[in-house]
Amino acid sequence: MKKLEERILRDGNVLGENILKVDSFLTHQVDFSLMKEIGQVFAEKFCNAGITKVVTIEASGIAPAIYVADSLNVPMIFAKKSKNITMTEGILTAEVYSFTKQVTSTVSIAEKFLDASDKVLIIDDFLANGQAAKGLVEIIQQAGAQVEAIGIVIEKSFQDGRNLLEEAGQKVVSLARIEKFVDGKVVFGKADA
Ligand code: G4P
Repeated sequence: MKKLEERILRDGNVLGENILKVDSFLTHQVDFSLMKEIGQVFAEKFCNAGITKVVTIEASGIAPAIYVADSLNVPMIFAKKSKNITMTEGILTAEVYSFTKQVTSTVSIAEKFLDASDKVLIIDDFLANGQAAKGLVEIIQQAGAQVEAIGIVIEKSFQDGRNLLEEAGQKVVSLARIEKFVDGKVVFGKADA
């Protein structure tokens, strides 16, 4: 997605070896007009796939996922990273290990929101090591639902996420694919949309 790549080049900041900071439009402050276009691009790709739900994980996946769900006219569900006192009914859970934070957390979705008739499009802001998306796939499969694909806004292709997910039989569609960082500059590979 050319517009997204241009925005990353303009407003993204490379931190250290492998982190891209995009807090001015995606992970902290949100540019809703860019999100709207992201939603439309994913919707064009999946409008004939029979998607019934969009699933993401809090926090930064929520903004793009809402716009994808809006464009596909289906509900959006976000997995929670901590159980709150209102989650009293059945919940589906998965353990997600964060390489960045070196902690494992339990993510959950109430089981009433997914069932075997669902065909799900997973959306997330970043694909790095793929652990978050793997956890979402596990939860969706526990519900007996089908994962159609995993839609990613920014993929860091030099990390293991895509391989891990594709080896598990999942389809990954990324709007921007970062091949590497060279002297603090982003180098893109060929994106999927
Ligand atoms: P994974 O998400 O692919 O499993 O990889 P990893 O464990 O390495 O990522 C942990 C967290 O760091 C995730 O957010 C992920 O989105 C985020 N992340 C990974 N690489 C980058 C990056 O280059 N830039 C930015 N801005 N974030 C990155 P999280 O902590 O689970 O959630 P949240 O920030 O959405 O609340």
